[in-house]
Amino acid sequence: MDNASKYDIQYYQPPVVTYDWVKKDHIDKAPAWCSVDLRDGNQALVVPMDLDTKVEFFKYLVKLGFKEIEVGFPAASDTEFEFLRTLIDQDLVPDDVKLQVLTQSREHIIRKTFDALKGAKNPIVHLYNSTSVAQREQVFKKSKDEIKKIATDGAQMFLDIAKEYPDINFQYEYSPESFTGTEPEYALEVCNAVIDIWKPTPDHKVIINLPATVEMSLPHVYANQVEYVSKNLHDRENVILSLHPHNDRGTGVADAELGVLAGADRIEGTLFGNGERTGNVDIVTLAINMFTHGVDPNLEFTDMPDVVEHYEEYTGMTVEPRHPYSGALVFAAFSGSHQDAIAKGVKYRKERGTDQWTVPYLPIDPHDVGRQYDGDVIRINSQSGKGGVSYLIERDHGFNIPKEMRAEVGYMMKGISDHEHRELSSDEIFDTFSKEYVNYFDPIDIVEANFIHFSTTKDESADSVGVKMLVHIGDEAYSLEGDGNGRLDAVSNALKKTKYNFNYKFITYSEHAISAESNSKAAAYVCIADQLDNKFWGVGTHDDIILASVNALVSALNRMNKKVHFVK
Ligand code: KIV
Ligand code: ZN
Repeated sequence: MDNASKYDIQYYQPPVVTYDWVKKDHIDKAPAWCSVDLRDGNQALVVPMDLDTKVEFFKYLVKLGFKEIEVGFPAASDTEFEFLRTLIDQDLVPDDVKLQVLTQSREHIIRKTFDALKGAKNPIVHLYNSTSVAQREQVFKKSKDEIKKIATDGAQMFLDIAKEYPDINFQYEYSPESFTGTEPEYALEVCNAVIDIWKPTPDHKVIINLPATVEMSLPHVYANQVEYVSKNLHDRENVILSLHPHNDRGTGVADAELGVLAGADRIEGTLFGNGERTGNVDIVTLAINMFTHGVDPNLEFTDMPDVVEHYEEYTGMTVEPRHPYSGALVFAAFSGSHQDAIAKGVKYRKERGTDQWTVPYLPIDPHDVGRQYDGDVIRINSQSGKGGVSYLIERDHGFNIPKEMRAEVGYMMKGISDHEHRELSSDEIFDTFSKEYVNYFDPIDIVEANFIHFSTTKDESADSVGVKMLVHIGDEAYSLEGDGNGRLDAVSNALKKTKYNFNYKFITYSEHAISAESNSKAAAYVCIADQLDNKFWGVGTHDDIILASVNALVSALNRMNKKVHFVK
């Protein structure tokens, strides 16, 4: 891309670069959050939200725990004015929630903005003007001093006009808009000039907001800028330093995180990063990132599917399937080795009874954001392996398939998925497994079996079992008798007395009680081999474990018949 040289422009590093933020490895306290979904988010929608939708969205943001919510430019549009008034007049703003409104630095706009806030409890009035080199030179054609004066004039007007509303406890916010395209020392100068006018106190702190209006640099450059401003602001202890990252380079979350390490106290952003161009910073990702480091984000994202559903309904936008923590596929493991590791990790955690989350491949317990293991995590397609298939069969139906049998069942499901080019559901997998292996009574079907146990009190090894059974093979009926050193052996010996040449040997046998809640049955697994050492598995279930094993043997034999055809 030859045109790359066209973008070789300046980065606005601060005059003195300190890297204290680099020494921290995690954020240890949630910042104050301000949702700008109803302002920045709304103004970026192809079809902006109507009044009713905005009201519903506002209520939902409150429910999620937002304490500061920017609701628009009431002086710039009738719809936004009406929205603000609806919230105030219908008393929809809880006492601990602050409405935030935005205004340019022009007297009639500031007046109208303050007027629109009549009756609000603790509103934040947000003043901004653009300070970047590009905007100064190309848009406003003003000097640095003239641009600074726009900010300080606005700041002074705030104080003067606020006097007309003595009952309202206003909080002030200032943004040097396009901060990332501004020389940091100049942005600092403007912010300090505003702070000097507002004279914050511990009871009346001001907010200084540093927007990455356009994300222009690597995130660490933004962090350097934030650290520089944070360390050089006047009255720093009475200033809430806020960030407002956009996501042009796809690193809005990194900007916010490094910016918090660099000293910021507050973040303005939106759910799932909706906003201008590539969006505002995604507060959901930020919050859950923090959560995965052991910090309560003070926002309620415990039912993420519900958050996604509401967000999509209000905005008409969609949450991508790979969106961190919230996308439909973000917990899904199709790959066999991942599934195996996850299944083992979940089991390890259960066995240890530990609360710490260290399960491989899952940075977060899906349950913590309202997602389920069922259907969300282990999913089967042609990339999957034996571990995932066996895990689902055990988890959903209580069959603990023996290790030696898992590969065969896994390949069977993989083959079906590969052939049909689609994912298989847990129910489909079990259905296929059942039809293929469990109580497979065609053509051999033991209709009745009565056992006699011969034992001597002297010699345990002399114990033996006899069986009399009625067997159907296709449309033939046989009364067979046999004995052996156990019931399975007796049945096997009796079966060998038919005209058919049942020539097989036992390879392995195992059994267990089926653990699925609704089931009190036992499951048995039998593997037999023909003369060429081809192996055939059968699974039997029954309330009686012995009959389960007989059923498993018959199933194995019938499966062998499919290949060897001893019964035509
Ligand atoms: O992106 C931006 O700079 C803004 C300001 C108004 C804060 O939205
Ligand atoms: Zn913005």
